Amino acid sequence: MEDLKTKIIESIEFINQKSKIKPKIAIILGTGLGRLAEDIQEKEIIPYSEIPNFPLSTVQSHSGNLVLGKLGNKEVVAMQGRFHYYEGYNLKEVTFPVRVMKKLGADIIIISNAAGGMNRFFKRGNLMIIIDHINLFGDNPLIGPNDEELGPRFPDMSEAYTQDLIELAKKVALKEKIRLQEGVYAGLTGPTLETPAEYRFLINIGADAVGMSTVPEVIVANHMGMKVLGISCITDLAIDGVIVKTSVEEILKTAADAEPIMTKLIKKVIEKID
Ligand code: HPA
Repeated sequence: MEDLKTKIIESIEFINQKSKIKPKIAIILGTGLGRLAEDIQEKEIIPYSEIPNFPLSTVQSHSGNLVLGKLGNKEVVAMQGRFHYYEGYNLKEVTFPVRVMKKLGADIIIISNAAGGMNRFFKRGNLMIIIDHINLFGDNPLIGPNDEELGPRFPDMSEAYTQDLIELAKKVALKEKIRLQEGVYAGLTGPTLETPAEYRFLINIGADAVGMSTVPEVIVANHMGMKVLGISCITDLAIDGVIVKTSVEEILKTAADAEPIMTKLIKKVIEKID
């Protein structure tokens, strides 16, 4: 346990040598949504591979960077690329950067992802505010001994996604004329996409969107007392009766097409956070 705290401290000492930024807001940029990092000013880009204790990247995974700088006049830290469970990392590794960003000073985390949409009112390319999630990983990053200095043994999850931030995002979207859906995100391991029976199951248990990330990071953010805003880009649709074959290429293309709107929404929300 001492080990986890020591590792976090080693990571932040290294990052603090590289950058004077004291971020109040952390951002995780999901699949195909990494370009927001380019808008960060006065930035320091640190490859994950250089940061002590960050997971070593697997062969298939894209290289990733931690980007520190200013966005909308606020100091931020952004993860350009994240670690996924399906790549072979355990959930403690997947979520380690969240703990580091919190200890760098971030009390708020904004998490984006690409997700399959199952709600019949959704269209491809829509953005969805995550109002709640269902953990279907069959695992949890908090399993094992708990360090009370990092967070409670049994964290409350009754407001895993912060209501104030949801309201703010909705207000911003209305003003900017951005169509914003809202719904429940089901997180599962992947890497397979879902079978028709699995989609029906997910719809029946109350999910509106499905993806392979976010849930572990949100659990750890809650463990550490961070405020959370989650936004999915609906990259493909699996609406009961009209489930079509999906490819990763299609998911990436839709995410890329929606990226300017996602970027605008996140930037405007950050401007309005006080
Ligand atoms: N299922 C799971 N993960 C995804 C999907 C999907 O349909 N789309 C994007 N990520």
